[in-house]
Amino acid sequence: MLKGKSIVLGVTGGVSAYKAVHIASQLTQASAQVDVIMTEAATRFVAPLTFQAVTGRPVATEMFGLGSNCGIQHIVLAEAADVIVIAPATANTIARLAAGIADDLLCCTVLAAKSPVILAPAMDANMYENPVTQDNLSKLQARDFITVGPASGRLASGKEGPGRLAETSDILAAISQALGRESDLAAKHLVVTAGGTQEPIDPVRCITNRSSGKMGYALAEAARDRGARVTLITAPTSLPRPARMQIVDVCTAHEMHTAIRDAISQCDALIMAAAVADYRPTRAAKDKIKKEAAELTLELERTPDILGSIKGAFVKVGFAAESSNLLENASRKLHEKGLSLIIANDITARDSGFGSDYNRVTIVDQEGKTDSLPLLPKRQVADRILDRVAKLLG
Ligand code: CTP
Repeated sequence: MLKGKSIVLGVTGGVSAYKAVHIASQLTQASAQVDVIMTEAATRFVAPLTFQAVTGRPVATEMFGLGSNCGIQHIVLAEAADVIVIAPATANTIARLAAGIADDLLCCTVLAAKSPVILAPAMDANMYENPVTQDNLSKLQARDFITVGPASGRLASGKEGPGRLAETSDILAAISQALGRESDLAAKHLVVTAGGTQEPIDPVRCITNRSSGKMGYALAEAARDRGARVTLITAPTSLPRPARMQIVDVCTAHEMHTAIRDAISQCDALIMAAAVADYRPTRAAKDKIKKEAAELTLELERTPDILGSIKGAFVKVGFAAESSNLLENASRKLHEKGLSLIIANDITARDSGFGSDYNRVTIVDQEGKTDSLPLLPKRQVADRILDRVAKLLG
């Protein structure tokens, strides 16, 4: 997503300006071309040299300075930018942008740009909550500026509240999403499920499975970065929560079923990467089961087959995790559950599948055509699956 993209990173004068170095570094490592513009105040917090060293590119600090090329600097930067991100964005810069004031290089560049602009506000909580700042942000949002954060927590003043610069991962997600605005899944709504459901035995124990949720999360993030509006319905996982999508937390198969029914009313595709328990204890004990008896028998009942029962005019993608007769079982499930595609994977393979960052899958379609992918990182597998979904969505 970021490879070869031209990103203008505006850094304004706030304590969190040092965090922008990490953002610049992450973007550069992702092979983006990063041009940093610093306001005069920002240079009081971090030296321009730091950004230059991290990005390998000159840092612009002066409106009337001599740039590395002979063009008019703010026009050159504005025209080259695929996206402009201002992190941190102070209350002062936000106010000047809202008013259209162009008295420094950063504001001039934003004014001259046609690319998406992302603001990551960071300031004292009172300044952030001040109606003037709120009005200015609303004005900018109405003009299609994208905002990310601020996060709440401990501020430089020692007080708690909203005003912390958003996490780097959230800012990077906003950048990827902005770059994907025109991509093949733009304006589509995708519902993605992930993780292994948990069926309670008692308040302490549950029946679950080995699904890590990585494949589902990779699909949700890839869809977001291709412009889709994503609803991620997730069973418990230990993964970081993906930014910039709606996340619905569920535990049991029953809860997942309800959440999917609520989410799909206007969706374009449902991708069911979750590993749903097929059976649950008939009765979950109210109190913790004590180890009194020598043996314990659990009575189990079937959970609903969610994919099989959900109907609608959207693309339906299922997964088939199999330990034998991979393609046979996958094709049977595709037809029984009325799917557009099924993603078959062999769970006995040691280098892929549950818990791994890699997967080796075969995509099977309704005509029985198969596309066997090599071992790939799950994010790449996700993109290959989404290529097919995008095609089906026309
Ligand atoms: N699935 C579902 N509801 C269930 C079980 C599975 O929606 N109660 C979905 C899974 O999310 C997956 C697909 O159906 O996308 C296939 O799941 P899998 O566990 O491979 O197949 P099952 O239908 O459960 O059949 P079996 O366990 O007998 O292989």
